[in-house]
Amino acid sequence: MTCCLNATLLFSFLFFFPSFTFSTLLFQGFNWESWKKEGGFYNSLHNSIDDISNSGITHIWLPPPSQSVSPEGYLPGKLYDLNSSKYGSETELKSLIAALNQKGVKSVADIVINHRTAERKDNQCGYCFFEGGTSDDRLDWGPSFICRGDTNYAGTGNPDSGEDYKPAPDIDHLNPVVQRELSEWMNWLKSEIGFHGWRFDFVRGYAPSVTKSYVQNTSPDFAVGEKWDDMKYGGDGKLDYNQEEHRSGLRNWIEEAGGGVTTAFDFTTKGILQSAVGGELWRLKDSQGKPPGLIGIIPGNAVTFVDNHDTIRPNSWAFPSDKVLLGYVYILTHPGTPCIFYDHFMESGLKESISKLVAIRKRNSIGSTSSVTIKAAESDLYLAVIDDKVIMKIGPKLDLGTLVPSDFALAYSGNDCAVWEKK
Ligand SMILES: *[C@@H]1O[C@H](CO)[C@@H](O)[C@H](O)[C@H]1NC(C)=O
Repeated sequence: MTCCLNATLLFSFLFFFPSFTFSTLLFQGFNWESWKKEGGFYNSLHNSIDDISNSGITHIWLPPPSQSVSPEGYLPGKLYDLNSSKYGSETELKSLIAALNQKGVKSVADIVINHRTAERKDNQCGYCFFEGGTSDDRLDWGPSFICRGDTNYAGTGNPDSGEDYKPAPDIDHLNPVVQRELSEWMNWLKSEIGFHGWRFDFVRGYAPSVTKSYVQNTSPDFAVGEKWDDMKYGGDGKLDYNQEEHRSGLRNWIEEAGGGVTTAFDFTTKGILQSAVGGELWRLKDSQGKPPGLIGIIPGNAVTFVDNHDTIRPNSWAFPSDKVLLGYVYILTHPGTPCIFYDHFMESGLKESISKLVAIRKRNSIGSTSSVTIKAAESDLYLAVIDDKVIMKIGPKLDLGTLVPSDFALAYSGNDCAVWEKK
């Protein structure tokens, strides 16, 4: 009896969750212009749900959902008000998330909590009274909820536990009422709106222990922090080869934020990779012979990406546009949790290539902690073996000598890149 019951359970598990061995694949489902979408952004994404789920994406990162002074959502005020968003209404958001869920894609909310824009002012403190956006007094806060010492706002709370954010008052996250009410709000985003995970905006703005509390209080199935630090460049304007300090800053943040489901965007890999593809592929091997980014030291908690809504903005930090595919060949074959960017999937004509690379990742069970053996890292060739099952190369060099054994077959090829699978 027990055996048959177990077999039935196993069968239904396999049937309903066919990709349960496949680890997280994130999709950033918007860009800096998405709020302008005619007919509403949430509504427009409905048309892409099949493409998104068919490509193997497990989680979609959506823009900040609350009322905000800036249309993109990063200067939020009334956190419970999801009807004043430029992306669409609360009902439209819930319907989008439910439709994604039905196709097995979970939604990740962009949590902007370092700062908040105040609604009311008085002569003493300038703008320093917040409205939660509900008819009761949830998240209605005054000056004692703002960090003290912020020269633009006369807050009377604890000193800021992180960096100051100039355009808006910094919230005092060491105040237990702040932690309780924001945790309640996030739990409401889970239970009422349907989110499963969090992308924490600007985590440099408050202590990592604060992120740890919010994760503990809300039990997301996935969380990622945006800790975007400057990298080291030499006097000639070239990126330094050694970026140990940069990646250990990320690792320390992850550890202090509690690890577990909490990850960080791998800005180190992003910076090195986009320099490397310009004829400097030797950059992709560190002095220990490992990948030089965060994935080389704590891959299980690293989210790799090629670009995001910020980096593609003018004068920001965009990946060279003619080399984007090489970036995806790297992140989709390597450890870490890859994050595919909206523009590249929806607008750059790369959907098919990205989907093929994801299929290779999936077929070979490459996951966030897969192993990498780097066989070549020269100016014009980077070649690596992943889990002894997949070989990938980027770079224009054609003569690969004996680097690809005869028991490997070509699975994908593009301009200056190729992937092989073990036969
Ligand atoms: C937003 O609109 C929905 C649907 O009309 C409504 O149920 C909800 O209470 C509104 N929320 C706020 C904060 O006004």
